[in-house]
Amino acid sequence: MIEVRQLTKRFGSQTILDRVDLRIESGESAVIIGRSGGGKSVLIKHLVGLLQPDSGDVIVDGESIVGKNERQLLRVREKFGMVFQGAALFDSMTVAENVAFPLQRKKNNFTAGEIEKRVAAALDMVDLPGTQNMKPAELSGGMRKRVGLARAIIYEPQIVLYDEPTTGLDPIMSDCIDQLIIRVRDHLKVTSVVVTHDMRSARRVGNKVFMLHAKKIYAHGTPEEIFSSQDAIVRQFIDGVADPKEASHF
Ligand SMILES: Nc1ncnc2c1ncn2[C@@H]1O[C@H](COP(=O)(O)OP(=O)(O)OP(=O)(O)O)[C@@H](O)[C@H]1O
Ligand SMILES: [Mg+2]
Repeated sequence: MIEVRQLTKRFGSQTILDRVDLRIESGESAVIIGRSGGGKSVLIKHLVGLLQPDSGDVIVDGESIVGKNERQLLRVREKFGMVFQGAALFDSMTVAENVAFPLQRKKNNFTAGEIEKRVAAALDMVDLPGTQNMKPAELSGGMRKRVGLARAIIYEPQIVLYDEPTTGLDPIMSDCIDQLIIRVRDHLKVTSVVVTHDMRSARRVGNKVFMLHAKKIYAHGTPEEIFSSQDAIVRQFIDGVADPKEASHF
């Protein structure tokens, strides 16, 4: 479903990703882990053409998306739902308007009644029925993330990208979000790509784990393989042991 081949990305003189390879099959849920600032968000932005690589290729559903123009990319992006790092809701709009937002561009294809029905179904999916008329400011952080998720699935995408869906939430709300990711995957039969710092979450929602380290996919495998790895760098990361060399990074 998604293949990244030898992707290199630089910003100015800084190389962020160096010949990264990645392959995610249809229906899989892939988790991308790695240090803060390591390029996880940059990597997933390439999957929807929000960033273009300096070299290498990104293939979505059999089609290369590198070098496509905005109009062509819009068609590619219709395959995706995205849950951005930090919810990114429009504060002036109601929950229903936020969730319906991706449908606006295709307004002519949906009647008001259909939009209303879809919004209600998406809010049910994330356990927020009846919140249509609330404003984002009235919601907790966890609820905002769930509204973001409802918005991501309103289009019935084939692939859903989640950037740090549980960051900043308590363990109970994190569990709840993980359950929703699993529910969305199983009910809507989507391919999921989840970027996370949260090792509990990675273990729970992923059936494939990719670890980004030193600009490359340093390790990949099933959660069992990664979490039982004896590699020093992998262990250091998943056990949360701080690397003194990295301390200056913060
Ligand atoms: N548009 C941009 N222009 C210049 N540099 C950028 C841009 N986007 C990201 N970077 C740089 O790329 C590096 C990787 O950033 P990225 O956001 O992908 O990290 P991350 O792994 O997602 O981190 P976190 O876990 O904190 O979200 C950082 O050094 C960042 O400053
Ligand atoms: Mg990020």
